Amino acid sequence: MENIARVPVHVSIIMDGNGRWARERGLERAAGHIEGVESVRACTEAAVECGVKYLSLYAFSEENWGRPEDEVNALMGLMFKSMLAELSNFLENGIRFVVLGNRSRLSAELNSTIDSCMEKTRDNDVLTLIVFLSYSGKWDILQAAKRFAAEVAADPSRAGELMSIGTEEFGRYLVTGDIPDPDLIIRTSGEMRLSNYLLWQGAYSELLFCDTLWPDFRKDEFRSALMTYSKRDRRYGKVK
Ligand code: IPE
Ligand code: IPE
Ligand code: MG
Repeated sequence: MENIARVPVHVSIIMDGNGRWARERGLERAAGHIEGVESVRACTEAAVECGVKYLSLYAFSEENWGRPEDEVNALMGLMFKSMLAELSNFLENGIRFVVLGNRSRLSAELNSTIDSCMEKTRDNDVLTLIVFLSYSGKWDILQAAKRFAAEVAADPSRAGELMSIGTEEFGRYLVTGDIPDPDLIIRTSGEMRLSNYLLWQGAYSELLFCDTLWPDFRKDEFRSALMTYSKRDRRYGKVK
């Protein structure tokens, strides 16, 4: 394996193309989602091996609630099953598991499994694996603004913050809180859009679009994405 010169701290993936993967094989869309879980496992392993500290995955967007009920149920069921199946792996390998998104839309059963999985893995520090579930970037910015405004409204001594708050402080109200912004955002399946993902946090992320469908995106592709990243020149608007 070639050495990766500069390993990103936070890699984020828009996992897309499960439906097309299944269609190409004459299978139901759900079969693509099931196979996609194998890619999640492979990329999580690769992230640990490469020394990535945060791996985040866009698993279900707010807009995905508009899919047929069967598919939504299949995706939520898969989330539930995979979490239970992977817990021992998270504990053995020092993986902290975090779910972020509009949790109020998830079932009570799923929410309690998520809480228990997060609680049991909270002190792990090899890799933080974040799953964005029922998430959208616009929703995140709006909930942050509402939370901030509510806190200030409840405490008159903080009124000045309404005008003085900076981007860094505001960023702490996003669901990502203390999690560093993604260095690299990968989207599979050839689509070149963000689909309402990490609109604030991705302000300076390197973007990488690849044609591979998510169920085919495994360790080699993950490592090769990291190689591509390590050759990028991040200038942040400055002159070098
Ligand atoms: C990504 O695959 C998984 C989710 C969005 C939940 P898709 O289901 O979007 O697959 P395509 O884009 O239809 O191929
Ligand atoms: C984006 O994929 C959301 C996830 C990968 C979870 P979609 O397949 O839902 O996005 P669009 O509809 O192509 O923009
Ligand atoms: Mg898609």
